[in-house]
Amino acid sequence: MYLSNGWSWCQHRVWKQMLRGLSTRVNPASKEIRKMFLDFFMERHGHEYVHSSSVIPPKGQGTYFTNAGMNQFKPLFLGTADAMSEMSRYRRVVNSQKCIRVGGKHNNLDDVGKDFTHHTFFEMLGNWSFADYFKTEACAMALQLLTQVYHLHTDRLYVTYFGGNSLLSLPPDEECRQVWLSLGIPPERVLPFGMKDNFWDMGNTGPCGPCSEIHYDHIGNRNAASLVNTGSPDVVEIWNLVFMQFDRLADQTLKSLPRQHVDTGMGLERLCAVIQGTRSNYDTDLFSPLFDHIRQAGTAPGYHGNVGAADEKGIDSAYRIVADHARMFTVTIADGLLPGNEDLEHKLRHILHRCIHQALCILHLPHGFLSGLVDVVVDSLGEAYPEISKDVPKIKDVVNMTEDRYLSNLTQARKTLEKFLSSQKTGTDRLICGEEALGLYEGRYGPPISLEILTTLAEEKGLSVDMTTIELKLKEDRETSYRASNMSQSASSFHLDHHALQRLQEMGVPETEDSGKYDYKRMGDSYDFTTIRACVCALVHDGTFVDCVQSGEQCWVILDRTSFYAESGGQVSDQGEIITQTGRLLVTDVQKVKGYVLHIATVTSGQVQVGESSLCKLDQARREGCMRNHTATHLLNFALRETLGHDGIRQQGSLVTPQRLTFDFSYLGSIDSQQLTEIEVCVKKLIAERREVTKAEMTLAAAQSLPNLVKLENELYPSNVRVVAVGTIPGEVSGRAENSSVELCAGTHVDNTADLTEFCVIRLTSVSLGTKRMTAVTGRDAVQAVQTSHELEDVYKQLEECVLNGRNMEKWVQWEKQLNKGLSEELVQKTKRDELLDKLRRLGDKMSHQMNKDEKSRRIEDFVSLVDEHKDSPFLISDVTMEITIKQMMKTLHSSASYRKPTFLVVRSKNGENSELLVKHT
Ligand code: SER
Repeated sequence: MYLSNGWSWCQHRVWKQMLRGLSTRVNPASKEIRKMFLDFFMERHGHEYVHSSSVIPPKGQGTYFTNAGMNQFKPLFLGTADAMSEMSRYRRVVNSQKCIRVGGKHNNLDDVGKDFTHHTFFEMLGNWSFADYFKTEACAMALQLLTQVYHLHTDRLYVTYFGGNSLLSLPPDEECRQVWLSLGIPPERVLPFGMKDNFWDMGNTGPCGPCSEIHYDHIGNRNAASLVNTGSPDVVEIWNLVFMQFDRLADQTLKSLPRQHVDTGMGLERLCAVIQGTRSNYDTDLFSPLFDHIRQAGTAPGYHGNVGAADEKGIDSAYRIVADHARMFTVTIADGLLPGNEDLEHKLRHILHRCIHQALCILHLPHGFLSGLVDVVVDSLGEAYPEISKDVPKIKDVVNMTEDRYLSNLTQARKTLEKFLSSQKTGTDRLICGEEALGLYEGRYGPPISLEILTTLAEEKGLSVDMTTIELKLKEDRETSYRASNMSQSASSFHLDHHALQRLQEMGVPETEDSGKYDYKRMGDSYDFTTIRACVCALVHDGTFVDCVQSGEQCWVILDRTSFYAESGGQVSDQGEIITQTGRLLVTDVQKVKGYVLHIATVTSGQVQVGESSLCKLDQARREGCMRNHTATHLLNFALRETLGHDGIRQQGSLVTPQRLTFDFSYLGSIDSQQLTEIEVCVKKLIAERREVTKAEMTLAAAQSLPNLVKLENELYPSNVRVVAVGTIPGEVSGRAENSSVELCAGTHVDNTADLTEFCVIRLTSVSLGTKRMTAVTGRDAVQAVQTSHELEDVYKQLEECVLNGRNMEKWVQWEKQLNKGLSEELVQKTKRDELLDKLRRLGDKMSHQMNKDEKSRRIEDFVSLVDEHKDSPFLISDVTMEITIKQMMKTLHSSASYRKPTFLVVRSKNGENSELLVKHT
């Protein structure tokens, strides 16, 4: 029978009607195929649907995009999921996950376009068992879905299992083989493979296990076993079932896991190709609407599905690249990423540039066309991932802005490269060496050429470019900027590896109780910090645990409790002193590693021993500066949203030091000085209102229900969190000041906004497209910045008076210098700086205009004297440099009553070329 019993549960009415009405099978569309997968596991096998996670990994979880369905469930596999979390109750889960593979172990970028199967973005359908069912059920469900729901012929399927590894003393996965045989797969199509194909791990250590793949033969009616895992386009892997049953320890031995899990993954694009009988993923309905849209633009030739040499002009490859990349950038921008200079942002920019180049230069699509593809992608994916449809205009803006910038840079880069190539002696040398490439990149031969454009132009011109020197330089830059953005003020690197952690546990050293960092009270104008008495539990010197450290030695100190704040959440660490009975330690940095607070210190006197009792004394001024600036960061975050609109603002990074606060945020528009003033006014108002700053610990679930809660995108929060509200925490205390900012934050804050005294934005720059960086100061520095700005304004007024009244002109140079110097100081209000620089520029223009005018009249006077001197000569021959224009000379001559004769002037222009002018007197 065509429809199996298994079909009755299925809810796809439209699809069923279509089937009923037709005698031959109608291929389901991708939307149906995706839905059939989810429904099968949910309705038939009791799985819970968990929505796809973002393609941007949570902070601190690597620098690659989400590349598999299992990524969001890693804590369950690793056993680190918070017992209170929603996740920890998952047993059977199903989903379709947005995945991107453009880096690391899985990098499809270079293959996209060249074949029919590679994508930067794809959807992974997956089902999971977390300590629930295992091999038997997982294989049975997979086979049932493929054959009874998708109606693939069993005789086209081949399955693989792990064939064992003698080096690791791992036997073949006979259990898996038996399961497949019992499900009716003939033995000749149950094939063993080794570690590479059939053993899956997440990393060098941790959960891992054998896997079983299901392969599909596009041809059929034959034995294609020998083609499995050979890269044949006819026999393709469609599903990977991973059986997580071991824990790989640091010494690489495998220990059986007490809880076994199943993790499966099947690419939707490939499955659609199989079900829709197309062979090429790009011929499925996931791509055809994009191809149609490209064709309808009317400029590109049609798509013929060719690859390699058959695709002579690269047209078909360009179709595939443009369609693939359009899906990637739409999904990624929708998840909150903007093109930029580093890591994932850089990858996104690279993909956008590549897509723009293919669209404009190969397919000759019109400028501005690409953003229209966003609508087509949203049509195709928006139902499964509603988050993509939320801000389509913003996605289009980003695409258009990137295209505009790219085009102007490309035009410029072409000119620079042409000039560079023509200046090369050989001319025929098609290789640009590493140092030259770096020169082009850094702008030594003209305006700098970005890496993407250099690669693109090299490809276009058939040049070989050695990119290694640039890549080395980029790596260095990234490391520098990583250090800067991590704001660690210490040069030490902190590495409590798992051996050290194990040793601490063996020594019975408890994780550090650090709630003392919040133990302070406002007393008059400053804060009173409780001095904590703690025990020295461990000392590390030169990488080893020691019992004692001597004067002058550097070490890491672990106490049982501490009041020192360890660097986190953008706030730099505390500094201060640890004082024991026998010695003193100067603490210069504090870091927290897996629950242990490491005080990085130097013994300044005496010696310090394990077991001693000690006192923690913070550098209070430093801490108070951080507290002020951290609270100001929250106020600024609030003011930005109030002024620029809540939707556009997303925090991208934050640095809180005792001296200032630096806040990176995404915002596509530009911020003018009026808006900046409004932002400052908003913060100043909250300071003037003396708002209380309330802090409370609560469950993540309770915090998430607070109105207007600000939390970081992609941050993994623990199940108990700290909420910091300016005003009161909603619902906690009623009848008090309305809250303004409510944020999840573990930093240290003042108790009242009045402690900030003053707030002043001193810098605003653009980090990358759509990312702005604002730097501000509070307290005494802010007061000084505002005062300096007023003083500079006074200097400007004096200058202005000079020019307008023509008095004290001799002081102009001195005052202008003074003003420029003042404006270049750091502590000046940004809005005032911009305003005064602008006014100064205009005043300077006025001044030079005035001076030019004076100078000009002086020169004309000189010329008139010359003419007068020669008034009795029969003719005048004079060599006059072009200090005054010919027009002015003629005017002068004509207006001279005394001078009436033919005149021959040899006029020498400034560049030294002579020209002649005969002025005939009539
Ligand atoms: N994690 C496995 C993979 O990525 C199965 O989903 O192939």
